Amino acid sequence: MSLTKLSPCKVNLILNILGRRADGYHELETIMQPIRFCDELTFARAAAGLELSCSDPTLPVDGHNLVHRAATSFLTAAGIHDGVNIHLAKKIPLAAGLGGGSGNAATTLLGLNELFDQPLGLEKLHELAAGLGSDINFFLQDQPALATGRGEKVQSLAAFPALAGKACFLIHPGFGISTPWAYQNLARFPAALNGRPGRAQQLVAALQTSDWHAIRVEMYNSLEAPALDKYPVLEVFQKFLMEYGALAALMSGSGSTTFAIFETAAKAEEVREQFLAFFGRNCWTAVVPF
Ligand code: C5P
Repeated sequence: MSLTKLSPCKVNLILNILGRRADGYHELETIMQPIRFCDELTFARAAAGLELSCSDPTLPVDGHNLVHRAATSFLTAAGIHDGVNIHLAKKIPLAAGLGGGSGNAATTLLGLNELFDQPLGLEKLHELAAGLGSDINFFLQDQPALATGRGEKVQSLAAFPALAGKACFLIHPGFGISTPWAYQNLARFPAALNGRPGRAQQLVAALQTSDWHAIRVEMYNSLEAPALDKYPVLEVFQKFLMEYGALAALMSGSGSTTFAIFETAAKAEEVREQFLAFFGRNCWTAVVPF
């Protein structure tokens, strides 16, 4: 008996960091938007042991992999001693700010809970998710959400009218950015480190009323301060995208992915060709409807 589940990614429409906490994490407010560009996870019961395989040979398949850690955490909490085989077919780029690994961990919690006939409630899965990382709780639900705390407190929101029918153009530049590096280097940018609270709520209101002037003003990412300082090409991408008709363009999460919102998928595909002709074909790109 096996079960296959899609594991989506996300972009942050705003990532507003409010300050560094005593525990070393950063207090933040963010709006996370699910993006239906997915990895695929297959779960099967086995006689004994936990075995993970992955289509990407550069990813570890031991306890360093979040899927492995999520599975161990689930099996321990549920008191299950049976074995499990898990295969991860990876399509989402790594160290990209798209939450691919976090999504994989959440999908593992949900997938194993389904495979073993729901031994744990959603509240328990949220507790396990928060113990595994800051972005994992978001992926236990499939709506846009406002996340606060270190990212683990998630409030689901209705789909935003502003994004209906629009398309997301994703660009990964071919290099990744480490999340701890981005947060550590934020210390050099005090204004970005200590954002004004309430901006995420303002963006929610603008997304609900389709006020594109306000959306453009409020879409913001504190982690662009260190990331664009080190990799100025990311700012050049954003300027290009806006010149070619994007409604908005921003870095997602701790980078390195840039995303742009276009009126239609056809327009986004047209700009994708222009982008690749201009910047070369080393970038990974995708166009995904919202
Ligand atoms: O929680 P997660 O493992 O996803 O975070 C990875 C790293 O990102 C943390 O070790 C920390 O350095 C940084 N981080 C942070 N504040 C957050 C989330 C992550 O400083 N709210």
